[in-house]
Parts: sequence; C-alpha cells; structure tokens
Amino acid sequence: MTDLQYQSGFGNEFATEAVAGALPEGRNSPQRPAFGLYAEQLSGTAFTVPRDHNRRSWLYRMRPSAMHGRFEPYGGGERIETAPISGADFEPNRLRWDPMAMPEAELDWVDGLVTWAGNGDAASQAGIAVHLYAANRSMEGRAFFNADGEMLVVPQQGRLRIATEMGRLDVAPNEIAILPRGVRFRIDLPDGAARGYVCENYGAPFRLPDLGPIGSNGLANARDFLSPVAWHEDGDEPTQLIQKFAGRLWKLALDHSPFDVVAWHGNLAPVKYDLSRFNTIGSISFDHPDPSIFTICTSPSPTSGVANCDFVIFPPRWLVGEDTFRPPWFHRNIMSEFMGLVHGEYDAKAGGFAPGGASLHNCMNAHGPDKASTEAAMAADLKPQKIDGTMAFMFESCLPIRPTRFAMDTPLLQLDYDGCWDGFDKAELP
Ligand SMILES: [Fe+2]
Repeated sequence: MTDLQYQSGFGNEFATEAVAGALPEGRNSPQRPAFGLYAEQLSGTAFTVPRDHNRRSWLYRMRPSAMHGRFEPYGGGERIETAPISGADFEPNRLRWDPMAMPEAELDWVDGLVTWAGNGDAASQAGIAVHLYAANRSMEGRAFFNADGEMLVVPQQGRLRIATEMGRLDVAPNEIAILPRGVRFRIDLPDGAARGYVCENYGAPFRLPDLGPIGSNGLANARDFLSPVAWHEDGDEPTQLIQKFAGRLWKLALDHSPFDVVAWHGNLAPVKYDLSRFNTIGSISFDHPDPSIFTICTSPSPTSGVANCDFVIFPPRWLVGEDTFRPPWFHRNIMSEFMGLVHGEYDAKAGGFAPGGASLHNCMNAHGPDKASTEAAMAADLKPQKIDGTMAFMFESCLPIRPTRFAMDTPLLQLDYDGCWDGFDKAELP
C-alpha cells in the first residue's frame, strides 16, 4: 500500500524536512528557526552516555509541544499493566496461550492492548512488559506516547499505519516497528482488524548486537532498518493525547494535531524492519548455535553480555547439520523466554502453538521440543532441509517474567501444556 518514503539505517544521523528550508544548518537551536518554527530536543538517552550509544533528535515544530494544559487520569486502558506486575504470582510453570479473538466492541490500538506479562520495574528503568493487542478501529482523533519505555511492535495480523511526530511508517505482519520512548504516535488500521504483540522496554534502547567473530556483516543489517522522513499535519483538529507514565494512563485535549514537526535531525527515530531481511546464520557442520545467533536487536542490561531484553526470531532457514538433533534442543535457561508466532509452525512443536498465540518459559524451567517433534527429529534421515513459511520470535530477558492476573485467568491459557513433554521413553542402558 505504501506511498511513504523512508531513510535507511538504525541509530544513524538523519536530517529531513517536509518543507524546503525548514531545517536549520549549522545550528541545533538557532535564535529564529525558519517560518517561526520552534526547536525542541528529544533525548532518548541521558545527555552524557558515551557517544556510540547517545540518541537524540532535534524537532522543528509549528508549536512547542510544551503548550498544553493539565493531564487528567484516563478512564480506559484497564487491561494495561506496568511492572512491577503484582496481580498474579511468578510462575515456574511453563505456560502457553491460544490467540486472542478479535474484539467485538470497537477498540483502537491503545484500548486494544492487554498486558500479558512483565518484569523489573518501569520506575527503575529495568525490565519489560509484554502486551498483546487486538484492535478493529483506527485511533481517530487520538495520539499516544509512552513515557515508561520504547515499544517494539510485532504485527501478527493486519497492517498498521503508524503516524509519528517524525513521519509515517507502514508496518505489516512479518515486519516490526520500534517506537522510541516519548515519541507521539497514532496507529491507523488500513486492513481493518489487527492483532499482534508489543514489547515495552523500560531499559536501555534496543540496538543492534555486536557481531564478534561473525564479522562486519550478518544478522540484521543496519541499512534494512527504515526511518520515516519528516511529515506534518497542518490542521487544527482537536486531538486527545494519551500518555502512559509510571504505569498509569493520562489524557488531555489538544486543540491541534501533535504531528506538527516540519523537519528533524538526529539519531533518535522510529524504525521499521522487515524480518525477511534477516541474514540467518547457523551451523554448516554439526550442532547448532545458541538462539542468540537469531538476535535482531538487544536492550543491554548494566552487566556486559546480559540482556535486559533480546528480540530474537526463528526465521526460515536451511538445516544441514550432520549427526545433529536439529530442532531447538531441550534446555534450561538462566534467561526467561516469552514467545509468539507471526505465521506458520514453530519447529519445536507439532501443534498447539498457533499464530497469535504465546508461551512463557521462565528461568531454569526445562522445556524444548515436544514428544512428537523429538521422535521425528531423532528418526529423521538427515538431508539438507528448509524450514520455511514460518516466523516465531522471542522476547528473552535476564529477569524472570511475571504473568498478569489476566494472563493466568484467561480461558486462552492451555491447562494441558505440560502434556507436550509426557511419555518420553526412558533410555535403555546396556
Ligand atoms: Fe527456550
């Protein structure tokens, strides 16, 4: 559908103007920006973080975004929760859910969010929340921003047109979007009903992982991330602006569109990424690497090499390992894993994990392929084999992930999930 323009890169310095001459040269904050625009800095990292990780952009807008009245509590969003999650206990049990149905009532993207799980503490800027959304109407006359974290959006069904202060993104299933903390946005649904997943990241902003011995290419390449070009709305349409701040939703009425940024420059920007662009790397001899080899982007924790959250995919790929158990193996992980499925079938499960569904395997709790997948893999006559037509993903976190009361009480929870691992034959010793 797209008639939109993009600029490529992730964390690059961009400079873009919707009206020629709007972008100042040689100054961030000139005394009088062109056309009477107002300069505003949006900081995505502390002023003083090292240059490699510093993210900020300068916005040139028709009115200062400070020009508004009091925020009042927003009455809706009852199903949105923020870490620390408190309604249900931490669960050692392996959990899996069927997909949410599309809503019957009219819900836009904000009101269609349901929090499934979370960890850490938004106020301490550590951890994540996992939300699922099911929505059937565009955010007409509304805009949203999240002061608690950036939002990584994984559409599973239905395209999203995301208007942001910095321009517009069209995001379809098998693509993702990352919306920086604080950036105002509006999500329209050009296909009608839409469903998907959100990782709300309270920690350090997502960035590309280091590649180590892989070298200078591979996995998600920076140039495949696309940021919008400057775009603005000049109309004085009344807009309800909703913000999420310290776990609560607040609202106010603006007498104009908040999307009045005519030009911007900097390296803090929304991005989208087509998951089919991922350069998947794996073994060409035997065994297969840890799934960290499938990391698209990472939010590092303060401990080197330990992620507050990794966003990992299980994309189409060739399996060629000789004398190798090829599906994801049995494992007990110090990290905690929340998984979703965009389309197709996940190769560690013979059924039960449906597109739009989800699973949670917490720290140190054993999981892996089900009995049917295990037996098939152990009996297989190994030839080069393409796993195709599938896209599973994982939000993997160093902190245990706590489900919400909603997630524990919903009839979507599969009470028989442990049965996946029933009935394995005992090994026979000589
Ligand atoms: Fe796992």
